[in-house]
Amino acid sequence: MFWYFVAQSTGILLYYSSDMDYTIDDVIKAREALLSEKSSKEVKELLRSPQFGALFALLKTAPAEQKSQLGKEVNALRAEVESWAEAEAEEAVEPIDVTAPWAPNTPTEKRPRLLDSSLGSQHVLTRELEKISEIFQRMGFAIEESRQIDDDYHMFESLNFPEGHPARDDWDTFMTDDGLIAPAHTSTMQNRMLKKYRANLETNEPIAVVVPGRTFRNEDLDARHEHTFHQVEGVYVGEHIEVGHLVGTMKTFLGDYFGKEVDVKITPFYFPFTEPSFEFSLTCPFCEPEQSDCAVCSGEHWIELMGMGMIHPNVLREGGINPEIHTGFAWGFGVERLVMMKNNIEDIRHFNSGKLEFLRQFGGTR
Ligand code: PHE
Repeated sequence: MFWYFVAQSTGILLYYSSDMDYTIDDVIKAREALLSEKSSKEVKELLRSPQFGALFALLKTAPAEQKSQLGKEVNALRAEVESWAEAEAEEAVEPIDVTAPWAPNTPTEKRPRLLDSSLGSQHVLTRELEKISEIFQRMGFAIEESRQIDDDYHMFESLNFPEGHPARDDWDTFMTDDGLIAPAHTSTMQNRMLKKYRANLETNEPIAVVVPGRTFRNEDLDARHEHTFHQVEGVYVGEHIEVGHLVGTMKTFLGDYFGKEVDVKITPFYFPFTEPSFEFSLTCPFCEPEQSDCAVCSGEHWIELMGMGMIHPNVLREGGINPEIHTGFAWGFGVERLVMMKNNIEDIRHFNSGKLEFLRQFGGTR
């Protein structure tokens, strides 16, 4: 009697003679038929098919003296087909470089499909930071980026907050186990800027640099406080520099940014790294003094914007500058506060929310 079956999924003809004339050749033929099959998926299906199962059923009915040899052949065939299917499946999975969208030489048609960049837009903070930097550049300032992790020396020590100084508590932020700090203000860059640009002073050029950066604080979050926000630090050092230069610089910047002349007011304050220190307020660019229902300033007409002051002699000295010859000023303002005012944004938490209805209001620039 001659047994045969056709694997449904592949159309491969497997055949066996199960009578006394059974020959090993039959198994070899079945094997060849299987191995000529190109798709591992189909072979896998074949392995699971009732027809393949029938091969094993044959073992039961085969004559006793042929059983062991037939069993060996059928099992060997199954092992071979299985390993062939596995090897093929492994080949089908290309290794992925998880650090790159694709290897540099990947042909175009094999590259993953990316979202069209026209679907996205620049974040409002990035856009405004670019505008702010541009204004300061026009005013003659260099732009340097701040850093997102720093050490005790730059965050405190070099800024005249020695170890144990009580004012350290006002800049409560995050620290790693090995003492690195997520900076609570961009003033963490002051010492570096003084050192980097102090050669300017030798050629009678001022140090004039603006440092935008991301800052971090341990805050209770509400509509006006975020744990992660941005500041823009300014550092200016030269000969005969006084508070009037500081006020004039900020007034010029704000007038340009809001497109409208603003009045400013400074009130005494305390920072360890400036002396004297001030808090700086400007008149609300969005209302007239008599208007009591203004959403931006709640009718107060003055808005506190930043800390500033004349750079403390100890800070200048630590930066390698002689305070007897050179003086300077520094400021640090919160970018979100400024952008919120300009765009009438009521809650600082919108910036990091990723909410599309918020982001789309500022989209379309790029
Ligand atoms: N770093 C201060 C703050 O975060 C602001 C400041 C900068 C004050 C520079 C004086 C000089 O509050």
